This record gives sequence, structure tokens and C-alpha cells, in this order.
Amino acid sequence: MRVLVTGGAGYIGSHTVRELRRLGHDITIVDRFITGHRAALLADCVEADIGDEESIARVCREGGIEGAIHFAAFCAAGESVIDPGKYFRNNVQGTIGLMNGLTAAGVKHVVLSSSSAVYGTQEEVPIGEDAPKNPESPYGESKLMCERLLPWYETAGGPNWVALRYFNASGASSDASLGDDARPATRALPVALEVALGKRPEFSLFGDDYPTVDGTCIRDYVHVEDLAHAHVLALDYLAGGGASDVLNVGSGRGFSNRELIDAVKRLTGVDFRVVIHPRRAGDPVVTQADIAKIRRVLGWAPEHDLDAMVRTAWEWRRRNPDGYPE
Ligand SMILES: NC(=O)c1ccc[n+]([C@@H]2O[C@H](COP(=O)([O-])OP(=O)(O)OC[C@H]3O[C@@H](n4cnc5c(N)ncnc54)[C@H](O)[C@@H]3O)[C@@H](O)[C@H]2O)c1
Repeated sequence: MRVLVTGGAGYIGSHTVRELRRLGHDITIVDRFITGHRAALLADCVEADIGDEESIARVCREGGIEGAIHFAAFCAAGESVIDPGKYFRNNVQGTIGLMNGLTAAGVKHVVLSSSSAVYGTQEEVPIGEDAPKNPESPYGESKLMCERLLPWYETAGGPNWVALRYFNASGASSDASLGDDARPATRALPVALEVALGKRPEFSLFGDDYPTVDGTCIRDYVHVEDLAHAHVLALDYLAGGGASDVLNVGSGRGFSNRELIDAVKRLTGVDFRVVIHPRRAGDPVVTQADIAKIRRVLGWAPEHDLDAMVRTAWEWRRRNPDGYPE
């Protein structure tokens, strides 16, 4: 299939481009290199904003694009609380421009990067797709708003769609050529690896008095290569006549922050300092996915465990201590 990938220079986008190429798809990337990196580009890239609907429509028409995977967005939940406008403008307004362009060009399918941030704190875990939506940040709200746009475009003759709600994307490519180079790192695993590398003096752990096994928050980590594969399956599903839907993508397992830290210490061989801070606003206590639906609908299952995520991320980080070359 000829596929447009927005945000293909970013962390998850670059791994997905690699997986699409491996499976014989033709790819055009649209990226502005705001948080992404030229060194992570694995296909032709048009440097444009996703909100520029005329450019999007032109690129799609000229390239005979049949399907799109839409990663481009800002995704630091903490920053979004301080600067909501930045997130609503780029994520929601940008997606409106993109959807206008895709619809005008007759693109048939779209897969949207959504997030477990649409759920917020839940009474019941694991979290199924029908759980109430309580986003605790403008970032989570922006993702929910993007999801809610899609059926309206489909009704008006736009693409059919799958929204994938990722839990915590982690790890790096198995050959250590691609990895997570968010600057600054905000996700727990890359931050812990920077501490292990000596780039930060200590790991700040926010809250050890939660009602969990060891008092720390619990998260569901999914390997970025498993996540990349889910996108290809979602496109195949839509191309095969599958109905538009929302699917969780996680491992279905929860690990406490302490378990993550222990895994990083064990697999890097570095015993670093961990400093406990008070709880941080907006941190859900437990996020753990119910993945029964994606197993059933796409036949997808995670293949990598937490150790594989830590090991691959560490290998990438050790080879690229300062991130991608610019
Ligand atoms: N990383 C995670 O754990 C996680 C979890 C849930 C959801 N997501 C979602 O997955 C997607 C990808 O996340 P990521 O971690 O790869 O982020 P990333 O920052 O590495 O990648 C985003 C890419 O989009 C590009 N971009 C952003 N705004 C753009 C615009 N207006 N026009 C053109 N290009 C633009 C950036 O330059 C970058 O290359 C995002 O939509 C994010 O919300 C990520």
C-alpha cells in the first residue's frame, strides 16, 4: 500500500516506517522535525506541517496515497498542563487540517496515534476501551478530541479509521539503529537510562505512598516494535474491509515504578541513586491495558517483555549517548 506517515521522523513513527518497509509498503513521510530527527528518516520526507491541508492533499494526490498513519503531535502531558494552547493547536487543529487534506485527496484509511491518557485514573483495571474517559491533561483531552473527529469525517466520505490507544511505548529497535531521543527525556525509562549513563545525578521518583504493591505507580509498557507492528495490522484490517474502531495497545501487564527501576539497575549493572519526591499532580495510580479487543480484532499480541524493552533502549542509548547526530 502507498502510505503517508505523519511524524515519521519521531520515535514511534520511525520504527513504524521501518516495519512498513520490511513488509513491502511504499512510504511518504510528512514531518517538520520539531521533536523528530533527520537521522531517523527511513523514507522520502516532505517537510510540511500536518495542518497545511493543501500541501497534505497535494502530497497524497501526487503520491497516490491510499492510507495514512498519523503520529505527528506534541506528547508531553506535563508541558500541556502549563501550555494547553500549544497542544490544542498542534494536535487538534493540526489533525483537522490533516483530515481535510486526506478527505479532499480521497485517502481511504487512517490510523491515529491515540493514548491511554484519554482514560486518566480509573476505578477498574485493566482498562477496557469502553471505560469512562477522564483525561487529566490537555494532552489527553487533545487525543480524545482527535478521536472524536474521525467518525464525522468518515460520515462525510473521508477515510475509515482505527484509533490506537497506546500505553507506555518503550524500548528501541532490536539492531539499536533507532531509539527514543525526546529532548529532554521525560518518560521514566529513558530518564532512568540517562541516570545510569551518568548524565543525570539521580532518579526522581514521584510518590511512594500509593495504594499499590510497593507504593509506587503502576504502568503498562509496550515495546515500540510491537507497537509498530500493530499499525501495519490496523492498516491491513481497514484495507480488508474492517469497520472503524478504537483499540488499546499495551502489554496487558502492569509494572510498578520500583520494578522498572530495579530492572534498569539489573540490566545496566549500575546501582544509581533514587530520590523520593511527593506525588505529582496528574499521575494516574495504575494504567494497565485490557488487550483482549486488539487480540481479537487484529490478532495482535505483544512479543517483547520489559527486560527486552530495557535491554534494547540501553543498547541504543549506550551507542548514542548524546542522541541522534544532528
Ligand atoms: N511515546 C509514547 O509513549 C506515546 C504514548 C501514547 C501516544 N503517543 C502518541 O504517539 C505519537 C508519536 O509519539 P512519539 O513518542 O513518537 O513522539 P515524537 O515527538 O518522537 O514524534 C512526533 C513527530 O511528529 C512531528 N510533528 C509534530 N508536530 C508536527 C506538525 N505540526 N507537522 C509536522 N510534523 C510534526 C515531530 O517533528 C516528530 O517527528 C504522538 O501522537 C503521541 O501522542 C505516544
